[in-house]
Amino acid sequence: MIVPSLLLCDFARLGDEVRKLEDAGAPALHLDVMDGHFVPNLSYGLPIVEAVRKVTELPIETHLMISDPAQFAEQFHEAGADAITFHYEAVDDPRPLLTKLRELGAVAGLAYNVETPVSAIRPYLDACDLVLTMSVTPGFGGQHFETEALAKLRELSAMAPPEVLLEVDGGVNADTIADCAEAGSQSHIIGSGIFRHPPYGEAIAKLQQLARSTSRTH
Ligand code: DX5
Ligand code: ZN
Repeated sequence: MIVPSLLLCDFARLGDEVRKLEDAGAPALHLDVMDGHFVPNLSYGLPIVEAVRKVTELPIETHLMISDPAQFAEQFHEAGADAITFHYEAVDDPRPLLTKLRELGAVAGLAYNVETPVSAIRPYLDACDLVLTMSVTPGFGGQHFETEALAKLRELSAMAPPEVLLEVDGGVNADTIADCAEAGSQSHIIGSGIFRHPPYGEAIAKLQQLARSTSRTH
């Protein structure tokens, strides 16, 4: 799956951007929420999720790069997010929030940073519907892919139950996507690789083709 991250879209034309992504065959949308505290950048919050929800039926994943995800997770779900992904590094124990997300009927996602070992999230895999492997330091679009993410994806895909969706996020583009797919990533979150390479349909089709050439399942 090639899932656009809207961080680099034209927010003055948000509805048009979503329609263009739908027409381009995007299977879901990834919304990056940043609080200026967990990461050194601010993006957007609930009103943008609500606005996107009004104009599309596509599944929405919110990637919460915020210091207190437990405080806001339910509100993001109510705002229309189907999947809520929060960071392992932001909480003392991810299990209570993962459990609560499932109880709410949300897809429960756990993200972990480049410097966090896979062994740290292993104990929580049974409580996850998806795991997001960061391949950049979170906070900004358009960064360079960190290749240590590939070994982590391989390690994760060898241990994760098959029903857990494996995502990779950050610096995924035409140069790096085949390696990600080969390492076991199933859902590729892509910002600049789509928004800086219009038309979106052609960008997504090319990325899909590159991912398919090497993908494997765990
Ligand atoms: C980084 C975000 C990513 C990012 C993707 O903090 O989580 O979703 O914006 O953008 P690219 O593909 O440009 O790295
Ligand atoms: Zn993201």
